[in-house]
Amino acid sequence: MARYLEENVGGITGGYAFNDGVKLKVPYSFMGSIFDEDEEQALLHVLRQDSLTSGPQVASFQKEFASWCGVKHAFATTSCTTAMHVATQALGIGPGDEVIITPNTFIATSLAVIKEGGIPIYADIDPRTYNIDPAEVAKKVTPRTKAIYVVHYGGQMCDMDPIMEIARKYGLAVLEDCAHAHGSEYKGRKAGTIGDVGCFSFHSLKNMTMGEGGMITTNRDDLVPKIELLRNMNIKSWENQKYYWLPSHFDVVDVDGKWGINYRMNEFQAALGRAQLRKLPMLVQRRREIGRAINEGLQGIKGITPVYEDPNCYHSYHLYTLCVEQEELGASRDEFMRCLYYEEGVQGILHYQPNYDFTGVKKYLQERGYGGQFCPIADKFFYRRELNLPMHPRLTEEDVQNIITGVRNAAEKVRGSGK
Ligand SMILES: Cc1ncc(COP(=O)(O)O)c(C=O)c1O
Repeated sequence: MARYLEENVGGITGGYAFNDGVKLKVPYSFMGSIFDEDEEQALLHVLRQDSLTSGPQVASFQKEFASWCGVKHAFATTSCTTAMHVATQALGIGPGDEVIITPNTFIATSLAVIKEGGIPIYADIDPRTYNIDPAEVAKKVTPRTKAIYVVHYGGQMCDMDPIMEIARKYGLAVLEDCAHAHGSEYKGRKAGTIGDVGCFSFHSLKNMTMGEGGMITTNRDDLVPKIELLRNMNIKSWENQKYYWLPSHFDVVDVDGKWGINYRMNEFQAALGRAQLRKLPMLVQRRREIGRAINEGLQGIKGITPVYEDPNCYHSYHLYTLCVEQEELGASRDEFMRCLYYEEGVQGILHYQPNYDFTGVKKYLQERGYGGQFCPIADKFFYRRELNLPMHPRLTEEDVQNIITGVRNAAEKVRGSGK
């Protein structure tokens, strides 16, 4: 396990700390550095390198990530958002193209479609896994549908077989948003290897991190030149140059009418990524131990639904999502969450507001005649049922016990209050 630098309190992972005077036993995210000598050595090495961009670290990280996933190609980017933007361009999504997508995701997934003028068409989620429901996807296919964008929510993969079957039937591309799913599996296959493309995040709270960063994975050889160009300002080498300066150092070409910008990862990030990748199995293993310990501790509380593990999946426990069933508890999720935070000192966070409810997305859809989208299961999930408990490899046995006791106490305190 990494050595954590306590003096860095409030560092890269302090985003959920609120200065409201509440004394927390278990904050949602930890404080301090997550790195140790491995990452320090990796960075020192880069400081002494010739090149700081597009050099040996990025090349090796891409190769190692591809081989770890079991996929032919991997391309490092600045973030998962930019990875999804490049992938959306490479897949040829353009103005008016419909993309079926889960509403239960960070805005980045919707933005990849919107940035290219595509239309996100939200399909409802499964109430047990909180992932897009293949039966709902099938209902949303129209002649304008070009792709399906899935998110492996919380580290448990979507039911990919029926999704791929729908894609094959209608000739649709599939993008896997794997921001939560480094190390997750579906029927023995890793996230990012089943659809046409997978996009990973290395943001500071992810299963592995360099603060920021992203990766595109694909088995499709035809996408390789497109992704390479779009990630790097559509720059291409001239062919058959007699002298390197004639006609110029490089050419610029379009990619089916699409234009990329600079989405390159730098050498420092890649070196950190390589060190983190070596630790990933250990980090995921620890998440699973913690997730399962919380699951066990939360069995049998009427009105509280712990994590459901799909037997087809290897859950990486990126998130620990709990649901409050108001009808059974006799109290609302918000009353439970209030008690958990203020009285029990355990911080919960909600992910994700159905994307069609954001002001800008609503306006975008309405202007294009796609307003009024509504997914009742995703809506109830976000507004009435869910909360995410603290979940990261640094939680101690004591933290885990405090989480379990906090949830049990909060449930009994609010039970039947009608609030
Ligand atoms: C589901 C999901 N997709 C995409 C992203 C965007 O990742 P990044 O911050 O690397 O752009 C996130 C990040 O939080 C995410 O949770």
